[in-house]
Parts: sequence; C-alpha cells; structure tokens
Amino acid sequence: MSISELRETPHIKPNGVEIAETILLPGDPLRAKFIAETYLEDVVQFNDVRNMYGYTGTFKGKRISVMGTGMGTPSMSLYSWELIHIFGVKNLIRIGSCGAIQDQLNLYDIVFAMGASTDSNYVQQYNLPGQYSNIASFSLLEKAKKVADEKGLPVHVGNVLSSDFFYNADQTALEKWSKMGILCAEMETAGLYMNAAHAGVNALTILTVSDHIFRHEQTTTEERQTAFTNMMEIALELA
Ligand code: ADE
Repeated sequence: MSISELRETPHIKPNGVEIAETILLPGDPLRAKFIAETYLEDVVQFNDVRNMYGYTGTFKGKRISVMGTGMGTPSMSLYSWELIHIFGVKNLIRIGSCGAIQDQLNLYDIVFAMGASTDSNYVQQYNLPGQYSNIASFSLLEKAKKVADEKGLPVHVGNVLSSDFFYNADQTALEKWSKMGILCAEMETAGLYMNAAHAGVNALTILTVSDHIFRHEQTTTEERQTAFTNMMEIALELA
C-alpha cells in the first residue's frame, strides 16, 4: 500500500483506495459518478465525504481518478490542495461549464483555459510582489489540443475569468473583461492553476459553454449532461 493510500483529510477519506496521479475534476459530484459509471473499468469509490464523490478506475488500461470539487475557488482550492499535497496527484484536469462573454462563442462550444484571470482574492495568499499569470500546463494543453484535433472537435483556446461572482451586482464588470479578450466566466480555474504552479504539478481546465451571458442564452440540465460528453472524452484521453 502506498503512502497516499494510508492518508486521509477532513474532506477526503479514501479508506485505503488509491487515488491515481491523474484526476478529472468536474464541479458536480454526480457528474463524477456519471463519468466513473460510463467510462471507467474496475471502478472503486474513494470518497463520499459531504457527498463529494470520488472514484478510481482505468480508462484504456491507464489508472485515472475522477472527483467532484464543488463550486467556486474556496471549494476547488481546498480539494485540489489536498489531492496534490496529501495524495500525490500530479495531473489535475478540471472539466466544467462556463458563461460565454465573446460573440464568437456559442452554446456547447469547448474552451481550453490557457490562462485564468481572476477577481478572487485567493491569489493574494502567495504574497507575490506583482500580478501572477495563472496559466495551464503546456504539456496537458498541447496534448488536449491534439486529442481534440484527432476527434475533429473545434475548440477555443484562451484566457478565461475565474470569478467569485455568479451574479454580478456590477453589470459593467464582465464587459471590461470581455474587452480584454476573456472568452468566458467560470469560478474555479485560477485557484486550481495557482495551487498546481506552487506545487510544481500540472493542471488544465476544459470547459463547455453552458450559457451566453450577454445574449441571455442557456442550456438545460438535461442538454448539458449529454452535450458535455465531448469535453469528458477529451479529458479522459489525457490519462
Ligand atoms: N459557469 C457557467 N456559467 C457561468 C456564469 N454565467 N458565470 C460564472 N460561472 C459560470
């Protein structure tokens, strides 16, 4: 049994089940369950604390785990911190949804977050003498782009906004980010990228557009469940 198998935290209690070096991180724990049941073989559940389900199995013979992270930077950053520092995870791939803030993006489009700008204070804890650029692991990004190309799936690659605000009191905030070329808003990636950079491990976020914020377009929960399979299948190939 490896050291990581013996460990537990207040939020992750694997009871001896291994967590793989590569993990997919959907926000919704039920999506983690769906991925485990639909795509993985030899699946074992490793977490159910707070119903934040986590599973380890194999995909095309490679060990891979999948676990929910919840919504927002505090939730993502605590789970990713524990996965990295306590359980030795090396490749963290967030799969989630985003609200588009550019004209060229449409519902169900896939976005690779090359960078993650943020309005969150989380990044201040590292006390850097300037503004840090939260960026994806180039090796994961390059691999994901290759997989998308092979599958014939078009993707947008660029800067996203990791916001603390799903509902914005300041209606002009997203227009300002849009002017800077930010593709879409979500709520977790900057914290994930910063944790990964500080620990010297790899992270990438793959998103599917669930709503267009300026055009007031939205997908339904049922549509999302099936439409998000392209994103899941790209992420699984990164194991
Ligand atoms: N995730 C999906 N849609 C979003 C939005 N409109 N704002 C922030 N995060 C999102």
